[in-house]
Amino acid sequence: MRVLVTGGAGFIGSHVVERLLAGGNEVAVLDNLSTGRRENVPAGVRFYEIDVRDRDAVRRVLEEFRPEAVNHQAAQASVVVSLRDTRLDAEVNLLGGLNVLDASVASGVERFVFASTGGAICGDVAEGDRAGEDCVPKPLSPYAIHKLAFEQLLAVYGRQRGIATRILRYANVYGPRQDPHGEAGVIAIFLDSALAGRTLCVNAWRTLGDAGCVRDYVYVTDVARMNELALAGTLSEPLANVCTGIGTATRELAEAVMRVTGRMVPLESQPPRAGDVGLSVLDPTLPERYLGELVALEWGLARTAEWAERARR
Ligand SMILES: NC(=O)c1ccc[n+]([C@@H]2O[C@H](COP(=O)([O-])OP(=O)(O)OC[C@H]3O[C@@H](n4cnc5c(N)ncnc54)[C@H](O)[C@@H]3O)[C@@H](O)[C@H]2O)c1
Repeated sequence: MRVLVTGGAGFIGSHVVERLLAGGNEVAVLDNLSTGRRENVPAGVRFYEIDVRDRDAVRRVLEEFRPEAVNHQAAQASVVVSLRDTRLDAEVNLLGGLNVLDASVASGVERFVFASTGGAICGDVAEGDRAGEDCVPKPLSPYAIHKLAFEQLLAVYGRQRGIATRILRYANVYGPRQDPHGEAGVIAIFLDSALAGRTLCVNAWRTLGDAGCVRDYVYVTDVARMNELALAGTLSEPLANVCTGIGTATRELAEAVMRVTGRMVPLESQPPRAGDVGLSVLDPTLPERYLGELVALEWGLARTAEWAERARR
């Protein structure tokens, strides 16, 4: 299969690329390198340094490469940036996405797989609960609103333009190559801090000193596997969570990071952060059905710590 991966120089996209190459697929990457890195793209993969906001350039890439499937990972991926610069988020995540989608339809792409977000779209769940794919959306940021709007656009295109669309709603993804200097990715940040001997800051959920927000952490290779299945047409459902269904509080995470790195660093409690979702856990029925056993947090953390240690040298 010939696949174009947008955002393929980024954290998740580069793992999708690796997985597709290992399966014998022909892969090209479209990325503007705003947060991605050229060295994340394996040698021999065709690379288009293009911004998804450039409609004509996107169209030319699709006409030239003629993929059978498109994996759309490229995004302004930070909730904080979306609150600060809402227009940028709309231009990249909504209009840029539309450029990729329109060019895909025009060039006869069969399947279009979109990287969406479960946590930001579904928002808080009640204690003991998990958000299914049928959750009532409660988007609290422009990032979530634009991701949700694009999901809905995809559903319309799927019905009217003859392109098969699949939406993957990720929980909190972690693993090698996640940027510790970005605005998201607490695991990358904690690992980087612990390895440097710095304090780990735990933002409270409700009151100063509590264990912090609860999140569902999913390892990046599981996310890449789910993308591969969706691209190959194996995933029957139009929308699927990609998650483990296991909630971990920030303080538990900090303690696990200290265990896997063997570095005991101070923990500091900080007040809650505005706009943080408190308790976000997604229903893992579909990922478990398609992927079988998912990577356990402690194992994934250990692999990520090994990578982070090598990356520091
Ligand atoms: N990391 C997570 O926990 C998480 C959770 C839910 C959803 N997602 C989604 O998964 C996808 C991948 O996220 P990631 O964590 O790998 O982030 P990332 O920032 O590492 O990857 C995004 C990639 O898109 C590229 N990009 C950004 N703007 C672009 C533009 N205008 N034109 C072309 N390329 C552009 C970047 O250079 C980067 O390579 C995103 O769509 C993100 O919204 C991520």
